[in-house]
Amino acid sequence: MIVLKTNRELAVMRKAGVISQQALRLAGEMVEPGVSTWDIDKAVRLFIQSQGAVPSFLGYDGYPASACISVNHVVIHGIPKKSVILKKGDIVSIDVGAQYQGFHGDNAWTYPCGEISGEAQALLDATEKSLFLGVEKARPGNRLGDIGHAVQEYVEARGYSVVREFTGHGVGAEMHEDPSVPNYGTPGRGVRLTAGMVIAIEPMINLGRKEIEIKADGWTVETKDKSLSAHFEHTVAITPNGPVILTLPQ
Ligand code: MF3
Ligand code: CO
Repeated sequence: MIVLKTNRELAVMRKAGVISQQALRLAGEMVEPGVSTWDIDKAVRLFIQSQGAVPSFLGYDGYPASACISVNHVVIHGIPKKSVILKKGDIVSIDVGAQYQGFHGDNAWTYPCGEISGEAQALLDATEKSLFLGVEKARPGNRLGDIGHAVQEYVEARGYSVVREFTGHGVGAEMHEDPSVPNYGTPGRGVRLTAGMVIAIEPMINLGRKEIEIKADGWTVETKDKSLSAHFEHTVAITPNGPVILTLPQ
C-alpha cells in the first residue's frame, strides 16, 4: 500500500531529510586515509542524536550501526568497523537515514578517499548522473518504469551494470514503504506516480557484472566479480510542480 503524504507531513519530512543530508555530508568530510568506518559511524550517530532525531538504521532488523559504509567492491550495507581503515584510492559509499518527528529521510553518496583512479571517478560520475536522471522522471503522471529506465539506459550505455536484488523504496513513517523503486525498467510501465508520494531513488551501479553476493554476516553485499560499485540516493517528494529532493540543504 502506497501512503500519500499531506503538505504538513512533507514539511516534517523535509526536516528529516535535511538532518539526514547534514549527517551524510559530515560523514563524507571525514573520508580520508587512516580513518576507520567505525569513527565515521560514531560521528553520524552523535550528530543525528544532537538534532533531536533518531538514526533510522540503528536496530533496524538488528542492524548494528547508524550508517552503512561500503568500501570499493562492497555495494551496500557495509557494517562500520574499527578494523576497516580507509586508504588512498578507495571509493566509500555512505548511506545514512534519520527519523525526525515520526518521519524518515534516507540518502547516500559515494566519496573518493584521496586521489582515485580515472576508472573509479568515471563510475562515481555516471552513478550520480543516473540518480538525477531518475529524479527528473519523478513527476505526477509518469510511471515507475520511467525512473528505472532513465537510470538503466544511462549507465548501461557506459558499460556499467545495475544491481537488481536491491531497489529504492517509498519513504515516510516507515523507512521502507511501498512501492519498490527498481533502477531498471520499461518506459510507461509500472505504478503511476502521483503527487504526495515520497520515494528514495538509489542506483547501485557496478563497474563489472551485475551479480552480487551477501556475506556470512547477513548484511554486507559485494559484487560477485569484486568490481567496484557506487551508490547514490536521495529522498524525493513527487509534487504537482515536479520532483522535490528532500535530502538537500533547504
Ligand atoms: N538506507 C538503506 C536503504 O536505502 C537501508 C539500510 S538497511 C539498514 O534502503 F538495516 F541498515 F537500515
Ligand atoms: Co534507501
